[in-house]
Amino acid sequence: MDKPVLHHAIDIPRLAWERLRRAADDPADLVRLVTLATVTPEGLPAARLMVLRGADRTTGRIWFHTRAKSAKTVDIAALPACCVVVYDPAEMVQLRLVGRGSLHTLDDLARGHFEHGALARERMMEVVAAPLPDLLWPGSAEELRHAVKRQAWQHFTVVEMVVESIEWLQALPDARRRAVLRAEEGWRAEELPD
Ligand SMILES: Cc1cc2nc3c(=O)[nH]c(=O)nc-3n(C[C@H](O)[C@H](O)[C@H](O)COP(=O)(O)O)c2cc1C
Repeated sequence: MDKPVLHHAIDIPRLAWERLRRAADDPADLVRLVTLATVTPEGLPAARLMVLRGADRTTGRIWFHTRAKSAKTVDIAALPACCVVVYDPAEMVQLRLVGRGSLHTLDDLARGHFEHGALARERMMEVVAAPLPDLLWPGSAEELRHAVKRQAWQHFTVVEMVVESIEWLQALPDARRRAVLRAEEGWRAEELPD
């Protein structure tokens, strides 16, 4: 692997969004494993690992997949504040995204992710399949598969985060650069003192 070089501030907006998109699109890219932090209704912090499922610079949005009933969906429904932390070890870059999350269940956005995200859908089907009685299932294997898919769809939820700002930190052994990118400024990178 080549040694990472310190990136110029002017390249940071493109590099940041490209890196997010590449991570979301490539199932083999470990950078897609990110930390999503929320705030509980009691005002406590809560964080967990999530797979990044999509990122789009033009709309300033990123997406995750989850189940309809979980602690994080309760948090986001009560308070949309979200923070996502990403680390790319090859470039030694940390990204901290701050924004607002919303939940999509049984709507067009969820439908698009459910139909096009084959891997995610298979995984969700495994998660929700357990309560279905395959031992006493009266129908065919094909009918069981359809029932599982229907059940997975009922639970399938997309978390959409509208990103308001991204803090970029590149920390090389001998040099550092920190910058903030804001949606309202077209993601222009403003360098910050270390
Ligand atoms: C490697 C890894 C990837 C994960 N990816 C997801 C994910 O994409 N979606 C999800 O809902 N939970 C994912 N989880 C589980 C969450 O970290 C968390 O334990 C679970 O969603 C319950 O979180 P909550 O109680 O805060 O809602 C993942 C866990 C690990 C270890």
